[in-house]
Amino acid sequence: MKILVTGAAGFIGSHLCKKLLDLDHDVFGIDNLNNYYDVSFKLLRLDRLNSSRFSFNEIDISDNEKLLPYISNIKPNLIINLAAQAGVRYSLENPKAYFDSNIVGFGNILESARINNVKKIIYASSSSVYGNSKEIPFCETLKGLSPISLYAASKFSNELIAKSYSYNFGISLIGLRFFTVYGEYGRPDMAYYSFTEKIKNDEQITIYNKGKMSRDMTFIDDIIDGINRSIIYINDNENIDNEIFNLGNNNPVSVWDLVNYISNFLNKDVNYTYMDLNTEVDITYANIEKAKEYLGWIPKTTFEDGMNKFLSWHSRKKQ
Ligand SMILES: NC(=O)c1ccc[n+]([C@@H]2O[C@H](COP(=O)([O-])OP(=O)(O)OC[C@H]3O[C@@H](n4cnc5c(N)ncnc54)[C@H](O)[C@@H]3O)[C@@H](O)[C@H]2O)c1
Repeated sequence: MKILVTGAAGFIGSHLCKKLLDLDHDVFGIDNLNNYYDVSFKLLRLDRLNSSRFSFNEIDISDNEKLLPYISNIKPNLIINLAAQAGVRYSLENPKAYFDSNIVGFGNILESARINNVKKIIYASSSSVYGNSKEIPFCETLKGLSPISLYAASKFSNELIAKSYSYNFGISLIGLRFFTVYGEYGRPDMAYYSFTEKIKNDEQITIYNKGKMSRDMTFIDDIIDGINRSIIYINDNENIDNEIFNLGNNNPVSVWDLVNYISNFLNKDVNYTYMDLNTEVDITYANIEKAKEYLGWIPKTTFEDGMNKFLSWHSRKKQ
């Protein structure tokens, strides 16, 4: 299958491309290689995708003058849109990045698909769309969602726009609400990663909201399995009307459990300071019955196994 993956140099995108190449797909990766975090780390991830079936192009999905002819030329069977400005806190610093990539860019992907008759799209949404919902675990059928951050609002708007594209233009769409994805080659801006770097280097970590938060940490291999099962599902079913799935571990971990796990593994003390931040939700917790039923997906990696894999990789990595 010819598959276009946007955000291919990103954490999830690079793992996905690797898996798709192992499965003998032809993979077309694009990414704008922005400097939200270290660009050389993104290039390092791309280096791992060394295959004649992989091509990479530096394209910004908000730049329709480049995106549209590119998609017209390759005519993929499926687009997997992972390119986005990620991160909740950064949306206070640079809101425009979220409009450009997550709103305009997402719209360009849908329009390029419509114009080129690409009938299948899988896209990244986020657990953040649930906001501070009190009904846990979060279920896809929950009504009246009220996302808090601009990041969450951009992802929720993607889901609404996707629904309209599947209804009006007969494009099969699947939106995946990822819950705190972690693992090797992960995102340096995320708490588990930056805590690890700082605790290792005896630097002070900042703990938001006194650490009274929990996240449904989900290991990258399980997320890639969930995306792959979504590919099988979108291929086996006609006219998927913007089906939304939670991909989460169904087992939230508190901030302090995370910090203590890292400090025990590294055998280091923790030097910390507290800060309040109101863009952070208290808990994310996925109900995964729908993904189990429709996709046959069950996350297999425990927090301990996943963190051991991440921390071992981190201690081996050179840069
Ligand atoms: N990692 C998580 O815990 C998590 C949780 C929920 C949702 N998500 C979503 O999953 C997707 C992948 O996340 P990730 O963790 O791999 O993040 P990432 O930042 O590592 O990857 C995103 C990639 O997209 C690229 N990109 C950003 N804007 C672009 C644009 N306009 N055009 C082309 N490329 C662009 C970036 O350079 C980056 O390489 C994102 O949509 C993110 O919002 C991730």
